[in-house]
Amino acid sequence: MTRTNLQLRSLIKKSGELEVSLVDTPLPALGADEVLIRVEATPINPSDLGLLFSLADMSGAQASVDAAGRPVVTARVPEGPAMRAVAGRIDQSMPVGNEGAGTVVEAGSSPAAQALVGKKVAAIGGAMYSQWRVVPLAQCLVLPGGATAAQGASCFVNPLTALGMVETMRREGHTALVHTAAASNLGQMLNRICLKDGVPLVNIVRKPEQAELLKAMGAQHVCDSSSPTFLQDLTDALAATGATIAFDAIGGGPLAGQILGCMEAAINRSAKAYSLYGSMTHKQVYVYGSLDRRPIELVRNFGSIWGVGGWLLFPFLQKTDPATVQRLKDRVAAELTTTFASHYSKVISLAEALDLATIGVYGQRSTGTKFLIDPSR
Ligand SMILES: NC(=O)c1ccc[n+]([C@@H]2O[C@H](COP(=O)([O-])OP(=O)(O)OC[C@H]3O[C@@H](n4cnc5c(N)ncnc54)[C@H](OP(=O)(O)O)[C@@H]3O)[C@@H](O)[C@H]2O)c1
Repeated sequence: MTRTNLQLRSLIKKSGELEVSLVDTPLPALGADEVLIRVEATPINPSDLGLLFSLADMSGAQASVDAAGRPVVTARVPEGPAMRAVAGRIDQSMPVGNEGAGTVVEAGSSPAAQALVGKKVAAIGGAMYSQWRVVPLAQCLVLPGGATAAQGASCFVNPLTALGMVETMRREGHTALVHTAAASNLGQMLNRICLKDGVPLVNIVRKPEQAELLKAMGAQHVCDSSSPTFLQDLTDALAATGATIAFDAIGGGPLAGQILGCMEAAINRSAKAYSLYGSMTHKQVYVYGSLDRRPIELVRNFGSIWGVGGWLLFPFLQKTDPATVQRLKDRVAAELTTTFASHYSKVISLAEALDLATIGVYGQRSTGTKFLIDPSR
């Protein structure tokens, strides 16, 4: 194929320089079960930011242009632990963008692939910050009638993660959930799922306006970690819901330990007798994000039966039987514009994604400031 395919790439050199640029990339020939998508909408999620800018100090980022006049952003990854943490990607130009949506413009020879020509599809598989993307059929989801690429752009990562939390809760024998950074795009989806499915949910946020946002959406239990009564409020909400499993997007500082401590205190409110070992109820925190990169602090005031572990969507999907995964995907498609709707504060082009002032906004990962890239602009 001779199409020019501009792709956004992130490179960390051995010298510690991060370089984010737009690169002309050849398109591979289409396999029988593959489609060529014109990418029209792809979100900037926290995980994309992790690959895009990695551990570079973006406060010192510089803008320039390459020989073709395209924007380039450079910054430095600090020496020491940060450089060691990125050792596995040194000198590799990495394509970015976990998921996105667009129009199928060409297809491989199989009838299933041909049937998608002209259709709007969402896709997952990386390298979506590209004008064009060849994707296997298995990684595509045909958008329900009338849905736009923007509406379908985020239909894999956050929806399946939110549904995966509820599945994990049930699978591990819990009956209610705790969620942190709960005013996030994903948190709002989880709130809608739990309201619809009757799953008690304790939302933890860090600002009063985030609490108001979730309450306006119908959330029953919202605890603000900036409030002086936070630990009391959290214990009350845990006692009211019986939640013994939490999904923590923050992953640094004292919060994971505070959740376990409040779970134990809530359980012990109904204890019949004192036990040296604490309650016999298992309390679990799954850290599924890295919004705070500090170490996790655990002050051991939560008895002996507890766990803190990592949680990631793709291993969860791999461990889940195909019928369940299909049921979750079908639900996302059916409720794409309601339960799983995503809000974007701005739509930008690939080149605008490399504007320093723009990076300063979307790089904050703040509530309600998710950006969408439209590479076809
Ligand atoms: N493990 C997985 O498989 C998986 C899959 C999908 C998503 N995720 C994770 O899910 C999380 C939410 O994603 P999203 O796309 O929904 O995010 P988003 O819409 O961009 O929202 C990010 C939220 O995090 C809050 N936040 C940022 N830094 C924080 C900090 N240091 N402490 C507390 N809150 C902080 C922001 O609140 P402020 O406005 O107060 O900054 C905002 O509400 C991310 O951590 C992402 O990496 C993980």
